[in-house]
Amino acid sequence: MDVIEAIRTTGACRYFKPDPVSDEVLARLFDAARHGPQGGNRQPVRYIVVRDPPVKKQLQEWYLRCWKAHLAAGYRARTSAGSGGVSNVIRDADHLANHLDEVPVLIVVCAVLSSLVLPDAKLDRPTVAGGASIYPSVQNLLLAARNEGLGATLTTILCEVEIEVRELLGIPAELITCATLAVGYPDRPLPTRLTRAPVSEVAFSERYGEPLFTT
Ligand SMILES: Cc1cc2nc3c(=O)[nH]c(=O)nc-3n(C[C@H](O)[C@H](O)[C@H](O)COP(=O)(O)O)c2cc1C
Repeated sequence: MDVIEAIRTTGACRYFKPDPVSDEVLARLFDAARHGPQGGNRQPVRYIVVRDPPVKKQLQEWYLRCWKAHLAAGYRARTSAGSGGVSNVIRDADHLANHLDEVPVLIVVCAVLSSLVLPDAKLDRPTVAGGASIYPSVQNLLLAARNEGLGATLTTILCEVEIEVRELLGIPAELITCATLAVGYPDRPLPTRLTRAPVSEVAFSERYGEPLFTT
């Protein structure tokens, strides 16, 4: 698959067929993931593939509890309203929250905290730069999944219950949880076009806010 086409069509998939995902396919996903850039090439990212039904059920129950709390707190997605005034993202995310245990593969992404490069750790705001050693690899995995005809969604909601997830999956204390990926063969057509802000809104010339292109 052409790399630009993959980038432009790797959207969130939240409806899955029950078909299993083979180890051969998973091996190709992780091979793509490991080629992501990582600060100092320290390679801090680890992946736990969860296919065991009772374990998936436990993750789904925690996920749904966190998701409901977000909804109750007024969580909104940036999309136009769909039928009934509920955005398509919320409707689809709600479906995933209620059916996470039915997704063929859940991949829990972890990272060795001490191996992350954190140049913004001393600023008076939450540090985010450490994620730059994690999420490029995750995106590689998602693109490789797209190339295999798989659908996937990156979620971070289970990070709220990191302590419980760590115990459930036997994750050592020096690792943090970073995301849970839902992966399987899509039960609905994958997107052909993603809704994103135009380049003119996000890219500037020389100073913030200065148009990059004249046309
Ligand atoms: C950091 C992050 C966290 C996300 N968390 C969730 C989540 O908890 N549940 C979910 O269904 N989707 C989650 N998503 C998927 C986003 O909702 C999705 O990328 C966004 O709606 C754009 O959808 P699209 O890529 O299909 O256009 C997350 C995405 C990111 C990048």
